Amino acid sequence: MENLIRLRQLMSQKSIDGLAIVPGPNLSYLTGSEFHLSERPVILFVRQNDAVFVLPELESPKIADLDVDFISYDDRDGPEPAFAQFSKNHKFSGLGVESRLIRHLELNLISSYNISSDIIDATDLFAELRMSKSKLEIGHMTKAVETAERSLVSVLDKMRPGVTEKQFAAELVIQLLQNGSDTRLPFSPIVASGVNAANPHHFPTDKEFKEGELVIVDWGATHEGYFSDITRTYAIGNQIDEKLLRAYEAVRLANQAGRSKAVVGVPAGDVDSTTRKVIEDHGFGEFFTHRTGHGLGLEIHEEPYIKPDNDFVLQKGMTFTIEPGIYIPGLGGIRIEDDVYLKTSGLVSMTSLPRELIIV
Ligand code: CO
Ligand code: CO
Repeated sequence: MENLIRLRQLMSQKSIDGLAIVPGPNLSYLTGSEFHLSERPVILFVRQNDAVFVLPELESPKIADLDVDFISYDDRDGPEPAFAQFSKNHKFSGLGVESRLIRHLELNLISSYNISSDIIDATDLFAELRMSKSKLEIGHMTKAVETAERSLVSVLDKMRPGVTEKQFAAELVIQLLQNGSDTRLPFSPIVASGVNAANPHHFPTDKEFKEGELVIVDWGATHEGYFSDITRTYAIGNQIDEKLLRAYEAVRLANQAGRSKAVVGVPAGDVDSTTRKVIEDHGFGEFFTHRTGHGLGLEIHEEPYIKPDNDFVLQKGMTFTIEPGIYIPGLGGIRIEDDVYLKTSGLVSMTSLPRELIIV
């Protein structure tokens, strides 16, 4: 519960009286357990002096080892009596919530029982809490990267003409699970070949790989709830369009420049402008249509965002992606995505797969 101590320090710095935390990454971070966001509401209320769960009876075994109070409810009575009981002894002057996660269901219970006079968005507080990772967390992420890389390497021989994007994605998922990923993958792998690769968020289809195509694979594994998120682009045969080869080189150099730029003390926006300039200088600026990267951890996209004009200053322990790309409609696309973290002495890439174009 060391994380809870740090949470309370942030609450007092920001003068937040209480927090209402629902199932999701923040609750996992604080409790070390996964709770379901379902039709049965679960809320952990945290104040300086106490922490109380209101939760369904069937979830209560998960908190047996935690030093928190709880009020549980069963399916016959529903949550209302539990919230009524909680509200008798707990009134907040301001309650911080996770605005992207909490639902009308929970907010309605909080307001029905006058639990707080004011609701505040505490998204920034949680970002601050989780952004700099501990050695243990970085260890989990490194493991998630290793599992993902090993899995991809073991299926690469299946990337050949006639195999479909979906078939390749299926093989990759099997390997991810067999190589030790948690069953909850960060996301379904993206496998985008030929003209489909011009769409950065393409979902695998029944399209077959063809000679002369580039194939973008974007995939990840999960270890102890922590994610990896990697992209590599491969060539099927050596008859690749000359413009795509130039674009590949621009992306490779942009990725390299981004990794060199990202050190402690540099604004995230400067990393973005660095990769963007390399791609612009190669004449492909209009085809780099997304940000350079995003924070990574218990969530697939979290702070810090490596995006244009973000003046947020990168700090030690932060984990994020560097993933420049070029997407040329009707022709194809390229992305090279690494997972990195910052030490005082510089950037460490957890990803180690080659970044040069590999012909399969
Ligand atoms: Co990705
Ligand atoms: Co990503």
